[in-house]
Amino acid sequence: MKIISAPDYESMSRKAANLISAQVILYPRSVLGLATGSTPLGIYKQLADWYRKGDLDFSKVHTVNLDEYCGLPAGSEQSYRYYMESNFFHHINIPAENYNLPNGNAEDIEAECIRYDKLISSLGGIDLQLLGIGHTGHIGFNEPDQSFDKTTHRIRLSRRTIEANARFFETPEKVPEYAVTMGIKAIMQAKKLLLAASGAEKAEILYRALFGPVTPELPASILQFHPNVTVVATEDALSVIRRQEPKLL
Ligand code: F6R
Repeated sequence: MKIISAPDYESMSRKAANLISAQVILYPRSVLGLATGSTPLGIYKQLADWYRKGDLDFSKVHTVNLDEYCGLPAGSEQSYRYYMESNFFHHINIPAENYNLPNGNAEDIEAECIRYDKLISSLGGIDLQLLGIGHTGHIGFNEPDQSFDKTTHRIRLSRRTIEANARFFETPEKVPEYAVTMGIKAIMQAKKLLLAASGAEKAEILYRALFGPVTPELPASILQFHPNVTVVATEDALSVIRRQEPKLL
């Protein structure tokens, strides 16, 4: 595992965007796994900026997003589809048929989960998966659980996650209780993982995920078993790691 430290959010975003950019330049047909939330916003902004400057071409890239809420009205500004289109896809030259998110409103959610896993396989798997980390240690919306071997599935969001995501909604009551998420299996099968983290409030969970016991109770801890993980994080997000593992940073 490589840990790259950045002095602040902008620098973290640029470093992570540089790694994604290298992937797309070296392999223009890459399959990128993408995340939403606050952390990747600066990364998408930077990538879109480099696209505008002519440095990047997304015309052959395919993407699969980690997750989507269930039960939001079609076109809702809180949906992850809207987030991805307004923050990234509509600012680059990726064809609309090349980007994919699970459909949280599918009538048959089980069939939708199977479709999503098959889609990921049919694309040849994920070349580079971008991840954030939740306060519960979730990756995607894989909340603390009893096992690691879930494929795409519907999940009930934890209270902590609903509270954390309430900032995107008018009231916490409006945060959907359920979401569809890519499973830990597909995430772990990605060839490369890029975990981005920012802010002191992620310092403790980041330390426990990367250096604590590997347990489904802390889903991100499984990343310790992946052969190609890069963590790009701000200094404050790395503060507990720096204290506990001073030789590493
Ligand atoms: C969202 C996702 C989540 C977030 C996590 C951190 O697609 O995959 O795991 O990465 O909840 O969210 P932020 O970045 O808002 O702190």
